[in-house]
Amino acid sequence: MNFRNFMLIIAVLLAAGLFLVGCGPTETFDDRLQAIVTARGIRPYEPPPPPDPALVALGEALYYDKILSGNRDTSCATCHHPTQASGDGLPLPIGTGGTGLGPQRQMGMGRERIPRNAPEVFNRGAAEWRTMFWDNRVMLDEDGEFISPAGNRLPDGLQNVLAVQALFPVTARDEMRGDRGDVDVLGQPNELAAIADTNIPAIWDGLMKRLLAVPEYVALFQAAYPDTPPEELDFSHAANAIAAYEAAAFNLYQSPWYAYLNGDRSAMSDEAKRGAVLFFGDAGCAACHSGSLFTDQQARVIAAPQIGPGKGDAAPYDYGRFWETGDPRDKYAFRTPPLLNVAATGPWLHDGAYSTLEAVIRHHLDPATALRNYDPAKHLPPDLQDSFQTNLAVIEEMLGNVDPLLAPSRRLSPQEVAALVAFLEALTDTAVTDLANIMPTAVPSGLPVTEN
Ligand code: HEC
Ligand code: HEC
Repeated sequence: MNFRNFMLIIAVLLAAGLFLVGCGPTETFDDRLQAIVTARGIRPYEPPPPPDPALVALGEALYYDKILSGNRDTSCATCHHPTQASGDGLPLPIGTGGTGLGPQRQMGMGRERIPRNAPEVFNRGAAEWRTMFWDNRVMLDEDGEFISPAGNRLPDGLQNVLAVQALFPVTARDEMRGDRGDVDVLGQPNELAAIADTNIPAIWDGLMKRLLAVPEYVALFQAAYPDTPPEELDFSHAANAIAAYEAAAFNLYQSPWYAYLNGDRSAMSDEAKRGAVLFFGDAGCAACHSGSLFTDQQARVIAAPQIGPGKGDAAPYDYGRFWETGDPRDKYAFRTPPLLNVAATGPWLHDGAYSTLEAVIRHHLDPATALRNYDPAKHLPPDLQDSFQTNLAVIEEMLGNVDPLLAPSRRLSPQEVAALVAFLEALTDTAVTDLANIMPTAVPSGLPVTEN
C-alpha cells in the first residue's frame, strides 16, 4: 500500500466515524424523519368533503367555456389546464388574442404577456385557504369578511376565497375581457371590453346576460340553485360553481409523502427522506412552507429575479404585496406558494423566472448570489430574456428586504440540494400527468374546448 492509498483509507474511516457520531450508530434518515413528524405533529392532508354535484356540473361548463371571455377565445382552462398540471406551462401567461396551448401558446398581435405566472390550482377546496393571488389581494380577514379588489361592490353569498377569486379573471382586459374595439371570434363587437374598468358590476351583469341567453346554462343554473329564481341569479352564483368545480376536479394529494404519513415507510426513497429531514430542519424551509399545504399564506420577500412587463405604476418591476398594504417591507413580497405537486408545475415563482427546481432551491439558499448571477438564457423563452431587470440599485433594495426566515442554518452540499429536490418530487400525486380525461368534450355555448 502506498502513502496515498493509506491516507485515503484514513480519510474514509474518519468520514464514516463523523457520520456515525452525527446521527448515532444506527439512526437512519427514516428514524430522523419519524422523530420530526412526531415532534412537529405533522399530519397528512385531509381532503374537504365533495361539493354539491349540481354546482360542480355548472362550474365545469363555465371553467372550460370561452363564453366567459370578451372575445370568446379564452377560458379559465386556457391558463389552468388539466394537461398542464392546472397551470399553463409558461413563465408568464398569454391571454386573450393568443392561440395554442401550454408552452407552444403564441401571442396575438398587439398583446402583451400577463405580468405574473399562472399558479396551479390544486387542492384549493381545502378549508385552510384564507388568501388568493400572489399578492393576497383576495383575503378572508379575521372578522370573516372578504377583502378584494371590488371593495364594497363584492356581491353577497360567496362561499369562500376561491369563489371570490373567480370573479376577477373575467374583468382583467389582458386575461379574458379584451381591449376596447376588439371583435370576438364570431365577428361580433366585444361588448364586455366596452365597459369602463371601474364599473366591475356591469361586467358581471354582461356575462350573466350572455350565459342566460343559452338554454343549457339556464337549466344548469336551475339545477344548481333550485331555490333561486332566474332573475335573482348573478355572477356570484357562477363564481361559487366555478370554485366548486376547481375544488372537486383538482383535489390531488395522494403522493408518496401522503402514503408515508399514513404509515407506509417504504413510500419514499432514502434520498427523499433525507430531503424531508433537511426541509423541516437545517434548510429551514418549513418556516414558511408550513402545514399540510406547505404554505403559511403570508407574503414574503425572497428577491426573485424580476422578469416580464412588470405590474402597475412600478413596471417594469412588480412590487407585489406592497400595492395592497403600502408597507415598504412588503415591497417585492409574494405569497409563499403551496408545494403539493410542485415538481409538475414549473416554471416556478411569481413570474416563472426559474425553469428547474434545483435553481429555485439554490436561490432560496443564497438569494444574493443567485440574483446577481441569474442567467435569463438558461430559464426563459427568447422573447422574455431581455426583460430581466439588472438595475443594481433595485437588486440591492430587493436583497435588503429579504425575509429573515430565509436563513438556512448552514451551507448545503450538492447532494443535499438533490435530496431536497427528491423530497419535493415526493409531494407529487401520480394522477397529475393523467388529467386530460377530466375535460368535457363540449360546453353549452358550442365554442371549441379542445385546443386551448
Ligand atoms: C390568461 C391567463 C389566465 C386566465 C384565462 C385565468 N387565469 Fe387564473 N390566474 C392567472 C394568473 C396570472 C394568476 C395570478 C395572478 C396574480 O396573482 O396576480 C391567476 C390566479 C388564479 C388563482 C389563484 C390561485 C392562488 O392560490 O392564488 C385561481 C384559483 C385562478 N387563477 C383561477 C382562475 C379561474 C377560475 C379562471 C376563469 C374564470 C382563471 N383563473 C382564468 C392566469 C389566468
Ligand atoms: C421566508 C419564507 C420562505 C422560506 C424559508 C422558504 N421559502 Fe420557498 N418560497 C417562498 C416564497 C415567498 C416563494 C415565492 C416567491 C416569489 O415567487 O417571488 C417561494 C417559492 C418556492 C418554490 C416555488 C413554488 C412555485 O410554485 O413557484 C419552491 C419549490 C420553494 N419555494 C421551495 C422551498 C424550499 C425547498 C425551501 C427550503 C430550502 C424554501 N422554499 C424556503 C418563501 C419561503
